[in-house]
Amino acid sequence: MSQPQENQLASIADCRRDFPALHQQVHGHPLAFLDSAASAQQPESVIEAVARYQQRDHANVHRGVYTLSHRATEAYEGARDKIRSFINAANRREVILTSGTTESINLVAQSYCRPLLQPGDEILITHMEHHANIVPWQLVCEQTGAVVVAAPINDAGELDIDAFDQLLSERTRLVAVAHVSNALGTVNPVEELISRAQARDIPVLLDGAQGVPHMSVDVRALGCDFYAFSAHKMFGPTGTGVLFGKEALLEDMPPYQGGGDMILEVSFDGTTYNELPYKFEAGTPNISGVIGLGAAIDYLLSVGMDNVAQHETQLLDYMMQQLGDIDGMRLIGTAGSKASVQSFLVDDIHPHDLGTILDHQGVAIRTGHHCAMPVMDYFGVPGTARASVALYNNRGDIDQLVDAIRKAQQIFS
Ligand code: ALA
Repeated sequence: MSQPQENQLASIADCRRDFPALHQQVHGHPLAFLDSAASAQQPESVIEAVARYQQRDHANVHRGVYTLSHRATEAYEGARDKIRSFINAANRREVILTSGTTESINLVAQSYCRPLLQPGDEILITHMEHHANIVPWQLVCEQTGAVVVAAPINDAGELDIDAFDQLLSERTRLVAVAHVSNALGTVNPVEELISRAQARDIPVLLDGAQGVPHMSVDVRALGCDFYAFSAHKMFGPTGTGVLFGKEALLEDMPPYQGGGDMILEVSFDGTTYNELPYKFEAGTPNISGVIGLGAAIDYLLSVGMDNVAQHETQLLDYMMQQLGDIDGMRLIGTAGSKASVQSFLVDDIHPHDLGTILDHQGVAIRTGHHCAMPVMDYFGVPGTARASVALYNNRGDIDQLVDAIRKAQQIFS
């Protein structure tokens, strides 16, 4: 990781002022927003880019001969170029625009896996996956007779790499793993997993929803075959996301959905599909969302991903330390390598009660199973409270969280 620059570090402390939603009171307290893992706030520049498009440039893309449609197409395709460069994909044909990580994974399940899978074939995932990286594989397995196999984790919330290795077999058709666990914050050793899988010619999909907002991601350096992520977790709008796929794989995959824009020619005798990436983009896309994602990438680049990673690592360490000092605290997810997220339980206070009491003190956290029920089963809990940090958080937010938890303990004592 390169050394963060002085001037950029100064700007990360200033980032907070770029996010209008952070400057409000909730129940009479300043907002401490610690739920960016669910959905991050948007900087003014993203809000403005979307508003500018809505106010001046709105028209459909790829279809019009008039000025507004040209502007919309230019902004939309320009965003694709920004995404390509941000993740270092080899070319723009490898950047498929989707509605989010969930659609990206479903696309791979239905378009890559479904034609390939035979009864008895296996998709290898891990025990720490989000439901979006479990259920699409279960669906395609039901359709084909293949099975989902989950590699185990340990009490720290780390993947058991030896067990993962032993589960790779000649029946494994795809490995699908979270880059960063949304419930535990574990950063998986994805380079190692990719090299072990690819040594056996098994392609690898990374669920990058919780990776891309927190660290520099280079899909070519990683060597992954597919990488899925969402705009709204990286300071862009909801309803937009990306599937990166290696061109050779995407070329061989059939379209995922039929409709406008994904075709070259249609007749009742048959249809010729459009070239990449449009083959996978049926129908009018989320134009404003993609433009917002482009602006979010500009924003992240202006801050510097290495600075983001360094700032958040320090903040997460501080949060784990401060939470760990609370009597009756149980931290869930204590892996050696983590990003952004800390799950926890306090005394025997139900996470939903805790979340409600915290909200009344201006602290926003997520509570529940975090769409990762197998993780909750592993730790023997119905759910957890979860705080997650982003580039705009500071120690004051963590201190407010800790004070609010202590207050909740007083209420329940
Ligand atoms: N996947 C999102 C989360 O972890 C919604 O909160």
